[in-house]
Amino acid sequence: MITVGIAALLFQSPFVPLRQVADHSQFNLGSAVDAWALQGNLDGGAYEANIVREVNMVEPENDLKPPAIWTGPVQYNFANSDFLLGAPGQTGWAGTNKLKVRGHVLVYARDDGYTIPGWLLASEISITPTQARTMLHDYITTLVGRYKGKIAIWDVINECIDDSPNGNPYNLRNSFWFRKLGPDFIVDAFKDAHAADPAAKLYINDYSIEGGGTKADELLNLVTYARSQGAPVNGIGLQYHIGLWASAQPGDGHYQMVQRIANLGLKFMVTELDVAIPVVNYPQTDPRFGLVASNPQDLVNQAALYGSVMKMCVSSKNCEGAQTWGFSDRLSWIPTFEYGMGAALPFDGAYQPKAAAWQIEKVLQTRFGTGRS
Ligand code: XIL
Repeated sequence: MITVGIAALLFQSPFVPLRQVADHSQFNLGSAVDAWALQGNLDGGAYEANIVREVNMVEPENDLKPPAIWTGPVQYNFANSDFLLGAPGQTGWAGTNKLKVRGHVLVYARDDGYTIPGWLLASEISITPTQARTMLHDYITTLVGRYKGKIAIWDVINECIDDSPNGNPYNLRNSFWFRKLGPDFIVDAFKDAHAADPAAKLYINDYSIEGGGTKADELLNLVTYARSQGAPVNGIGLQYHIGLWASAQPGDGHYQMVQRIANLGLKFMVTELDVAIPVVNYPQTDPRFGLVASNPQDLVNQAALYGSVMKMCVSSKNCEGAQTWGFSDRLSWIPTFEYGMGAALPFDGAYQPKAAAWQIEKVLQTRFGTGRS
């Protein structure tokens, strides 16, 4: 691939697996993973082998979301989550491979098919607020309790803030849980998760808050409120689904945002980093779909952006790590989510390091010997 050629020209030394570099600098470097691809031995096992080699943390992309787990009022499907994490008393795929796990997500606070079970929305009219509170408690207690001790960090709440003003407190999205319980569904969810696994760190996660702005202000105000009500919030997840329009330079809105989080005494993580660039419009059935940059220079700019986001992480005391949303362009949500965009991840469709992966490596190496965790 052309990206390998560029990387080879720029960097004479061989590529050191990122997991090795991340371990050495005591940095949590993660990727979204999919149980189906691991179980199905995707690409003859290359998918699995590359994840295990390149990251020290994983986050199930979809396997822990409510629609995947919560199949009926008291019915659960733990097939994929048990594969990844192990049934109680057993070791799962992540444990076998000594990978830390971020759990995603207990409450995905919007009313879409991939965020909340269809049966729950369909029975909304017959569920009282008191019943909803019990259901939320039981769901969180069951799921967090089942994997107690195996999940280092949980996203308790995801995407609860609306994109444009809607008149709700903290501009909370109009979702099932908001309609039933008001803003306190946030407080309750954090308390329930903490009770079920007191050692797990608990996060609230969202997009388009990385660089500050109204949505970021609303989220920080919400977190301040939730903590005043006793919600044990440890950190804020910054999704970082970005494009080449973004930048993260010392002193700018991104650095200010992580400082504001630090001022609240909270940690942050970059949770879902990808940098989408325009790709050649092959049909979805073509193996090149979503993989080939329209303009090779974009790969160079993409690498610089990966480097600056990573630099922001390693230079911030309250950063608990960074994850990409998938690790190779072979399996990324971008091409189907944003048609005409893709090639968003640090490794290419053949699992080879792109210029972005070399930048991540370079930045992590500056952390050698710092002894931070
Ligand atoms: C996305 C997955 O990547 C897709 O496979 C799925 O179809 C929809 O959800 N923010 C999040 C993630 O917090 O859970 C979303 O994941 C991407 C945006």
